[in-house]
Amino acid sequence: MIKQDVEQLVACAIEARQQSYSPYSNFAVGAALLCEDGTIYKGCNIENASYGLTNCAERTAIFKAISEDHRKFKALAVVADTEGPCAPCGACRQVINEFKIPTIIMANLMGNMKIVSIEELLPFSFSDCDVVGK
Ligand code: THU
Repeated sequence: MIKQDVEQLVACAIEARQQSYSPYSNFAVGAALLCEDGTIYKGCNIENASYGLTNCAERTAIFKAISEDHRKFKALAVVADTEGPCAPCGACRQVINEFKIPTIIMANLMGNMKIVSIEELLPFSFSDCDVVGK
């Protein structure tokens, strides 16, 4: 990925973060997913009074794209106001792996960034080829 595309995707994730619904944690997260055809889907974390129903920013972006018939992806950016680059949670890693998003850009608001592959993010993953009958 070229630097310009990375910067654009992080900027979209920062924008998406503005929509965060996080009255319980007050921890706003934004994500942006770049599809193979160039479409970008933004997502924010959406919390619930029943805490476990919270949807992370990454999954919001991914589910928006999937529900709009996108299946091929280039990269996902995630941003929060963390000390270092914000890392996706375990549940999101599994979903990122499901849709084979090859590149994950972790960032924070101070411009720190770390780019990793899906294999680095979720080694020894359980995936479609492990499911009997697939
Ligand atoms: N959160 C995300 O949106 N993405 C992550 O990868 C980590 C956690 C959200 C969930 C919850 O709304 C808040 O951050 C605190 O955990």
